[in-house]
Parts: sequence; structure tokens; C-alpha cells
Amino acid sequence: MKRIVEPELLDELPPSDPQAIHSRRDLRRLNRIMRHAELLCATTAASLPQPPRTIADLGAGDGSLLLAIARRMHARWPGVRVVLVDRQKNISADTLAEFRDLGWTAEAVTADVFVWLATASSSTDMMVANLFLHHFADEKLAELLRLVAPRTDFFIASETRRTWPALTAGRLLGLIGCNAVTRHDARISLHAGFVRRELSALWPAASGWKLEERGALIFTHLFTAQRTR
Ligand SMILES: C[S@@+](CC[C@H](N)C(=O)[O-])C[C@H]1O[C@@H](n2cnc3c(N)ncnc32)[C@H](O)[C@@H]1O
Repeated sequence: MKRIVEPELLDELPPSDPQAIHSRRDLRRLNRIMRHAELLCATTAASLPQPPRTIADLGAGDGSLLLAIARRMHARWPGVRVVLVDRQKNISADTLAEFRDLGWTAEAVTADVFVWLATASSSTDMMVANLFLHHFADEKLAELLRLVAPRTDFFIASETRRTWPALTAGRLLGLIGCNAVTRHDARISLHAGFVRRELSALWPAASGWKLEERGALIFTHLFTAQRTR
């Protein structure tokens, strides 16, 4: 099945639109169903030799995914500084306060990820992208990964998986109450998702990195790039 990238409704709707609010709630639920926080924590903990001190979340949305990671990891990874980057302003004061309560420092940056990466003054130990990379066609995605690689030692992405079982299951989201925006964007996201080693093929560095890529559960495609020297 060919990869097709099309615009998603949630990217265009203002954050205050009731349909967008419902869809972000759906997204939080879908992240829980897909067990993305759990998957990201387990994979990262197994890969990183020591806790990260800084984490950037690319296309962070409302920050709830990284907050779920913080809830799981704060005892093992104390005092992490996180930067949540998204083009839209969706991160509430309550979310930032909860990071603080867990002993992490969180900063929400409203910016295009390409601009932020190109101008970031320092690198981060770890970068996360959850349901974000599939927004970009291959050429743009290669440009994004070229910006990511020199600025982190560990990059992890949980993405949509472009398979017929995932597309078929995705058609049933109305049954669990997902709204029209979520149902539309889920179909687009699954067609724009990844299989095999498609992300590894777009990673800029041929050596000095350990790349892993695999399917997980029904909907998820997981990619990690870890600097080895
Ligand atoms: C499907 S949502 C995922 C949000 C979040 N990672 C999560 O799992 O809940 C994709 C997010 O990417 C953001 N986005 C899309 N293009 C972007 C860009 N070029 N720069 C920054 N954010 C972008 C959207 O605003 C949206 O919040």
C-alpha cells in the first residue's frame, strides 16, 4: 500500500473549537488504548544507559502524552527539563503544574518544529515524537530528521502503522465515541503511516547510530535512533 500524506483537520481547527476539543480528548484515549506512554517508557528505559536530563517533545499537542511518561518515570528520572513544542497553543497551566508537582520543569513553546529545531540553542538528551512524523511527506520528513539528528543522542517516535488490519480497525473508531474529526484524521494518519524500515531509510546518518524499527500492537509503528559515538 502506497504512503499518502494529506492534511488533517485537527491541524487546522483553532484549539478552542468544540470539535477540536473533543478530538484531542479522543486522542488522549487512543494514546491510552495504543499504550503509547507505556511503550515509549519501556523502550527508552531499555535503551538509555542513564536517565535523560532534557527531553523535547515534537508536535506535543496538549502535552498529555509526555505527562503520562513523566508520571511513570519521574522516580527513576528525577528533575528532567522538558520542552513541549507545537504549532498550536494547547498546553494548559494545569498540565505544566503537574509536571512541576512531579519534580520536572516544563516549558511550552508555540512554534513550528522546523523553525524551533533550526534555531534551538542547545541539544537535548532525548527527543520524542508521538503521532507526529506521519504529517510529513518523505522529503519533508527527511529534512526534519536531518534537523533532529545533530541535536539529540536518542530519538524515539511512535507512529501510525500503514497496514490493512490497522486501517480496518481504524474504521471502527465511531463505536467508541470518536468524533468526525478524529475519524477523518485517523484514516488520513493510517494511510500516511509507516511499515518495514521506512523511517530508518530517511535517517540522515549512515553510521554512528543504532536504528531500530518495528510494529507494535495493531496500530503502532515504533522507531528509535540512538547515537553510538
Ligand atoms: C496528531 S497530533 C499529536 C499530538 C501529541 N503528540 C499526542 O500524541 O497527543 C499532531 C500535533 O502536531 C502538531 N503539528 C503539526 N505540524 C506541526 C509543525 N510543523 N510544527 C509543530 N507542531 C505541528 C499539531 O498542532 C498537533 O498538535
